[in-house]
Amino acid sequence: MSILVTGGAGYIGSHTCVELLNAGYEVIVLDNLANSNQEVLKRIEALTDQKVLHYQRDMCHQGVLEEIFRRHSIEAVIHFAGLKAVGESVAEPLKYYATNVMGALSLCEVMAHFNVKKLVFSSSATVYGSLENVPLPENVPLSATNPYGRTKLMIEHILNDIYRADPSWSIAKLRYFNPVGAHPSGLIGEDPHGMPNNLVPFITQVAVGKRQSVIIFGNDYDTCDGTGVRDYVHVMDLAHGHLKALKSVLETTGVEAYNLGTGKGYSVLQMIHAFEKVTGRSIPYTVTNRRPGDVAMSYADPAKAQRILGWTAHRNLEKMCEDAWLWQRNNPDGYATEVPRWDNVS
Ligand code: NAD
Ligand code: WQD
Repeated sequence: MSILVTGGAGYIGSHTCVELLNAGYEVIVLDNLANSNQEVLKRIEALTDQKVLHYQRDMCHQGVLEEIFRRHSIEAVIHFAGLKAVGESVAEPLKYYATNVMGALSLCEVMAHFNVKKLVFSSSATVYGSLENVPLPENVPLSATNPYGRTKLMIEHILNDIYRADPSWSIAKLRYFNPVGAHPSGLIGEDPHGMPNNLVPFITQVAVGKRQSVIIFGNDYDTCDGTGVRDYVHVMDLAHGHLKALKSVLETTGVEAYNLGTGKGYSVLQMIHAFEKVTGRSIPYTVTNRRPGDVAMSYADPAKAQRILGWTAHRNLEKMCEDAWLWQRNNPDGYATEVPRWDNVS
């Protein structure tokens, strides 16, 4: 059974490809490598001892999608591809609407044309806007505070309308909280280009000596220690969540949103201290002003994913830190690291 994975060379997509291949699915990746590297595909193959068919093309070109659907018998699509940097989306909104929204529209049109109506979509906890009534269940009013978030919200609405118009579709909208960690082999992980936008890659780059100190965005929030609290979830748990969602869309029809988070929140300082413990290194930090648009606390109510998909996150904070650290240490320059250190590969 072939599964089309758009964005399969990216951070979450690559870990999901490994899990799909290990579960016996055939995987076809569509990824233009705008935010990823050819090397990741080699490593997915090394980890699974299986071939991955990769189209290095832009998903926004409908002709490219049509060609792929003509050539392969695709059962379902997992749609990760898109742009995800919040700050960049504020500076370049058109790029975000064009890529994320147009990409999803092109994909759904081609899927409908080829009668492939099973879709797992990468949404985000960003659709909860500035809501802080934690833990967040799926059925609260949605909003967005930046163009990136609005693209996710728009796509969620589009998917709801597609299902309303044609109830033979089956769509899972997965709202990830804060994905962190890496494959336990240390062979694949998160490889941000330039300055990391997110906390954990920033911490690991400080730990490995690439950056001087972590800059904490505010310590005057109404939280346990004044710093922001988030629901960090191991990327391997997320990957497993996609398998569960895929199984569900293959077996049913409907459109459903699911939170993928642990249901627990950790503060920025707790994250720094957890990494200090795992790395055995001191992680210097300084405190600056709050980052515009940040909320004090965000964590999931993951009960729906557990009840309907049978999914729960199993890996704890220590495991998230250990795996993120192994990846960073073995690949200090990400996939561009010239001679990857394989010494910790089991
Ligand atoms: P990523 O940037 O690592 O992966 C996205 C992939 O899409 C990249 O490999 C990129 O090259 C590819 N891509 C971008 N534009 C493309 C195009 N026009 N055609 C083909 N491929 C294209 O991001 P990720 O962290 O793996 O996120 C995957 C999805 O999950 C994204 O949709 C993102 O918005 C969403 N998400 C991510 C997070 C997070 O914190 N990482 C949280 C919530 C939701
Ligand atoms: C986590 C905490 C920061 C960096 C973002 C997107 C969201 C989703 C996940 C895609 C916050 C603090 C951070 C730093 C810091 N992505 N922080 N110093 O903001 O919860 O979510 O990624 O969908 O849409 O907005 O994650 O990792 O940026 O921040 O103090 O250098 O760490 O203020 O409290 P966030 P993050």
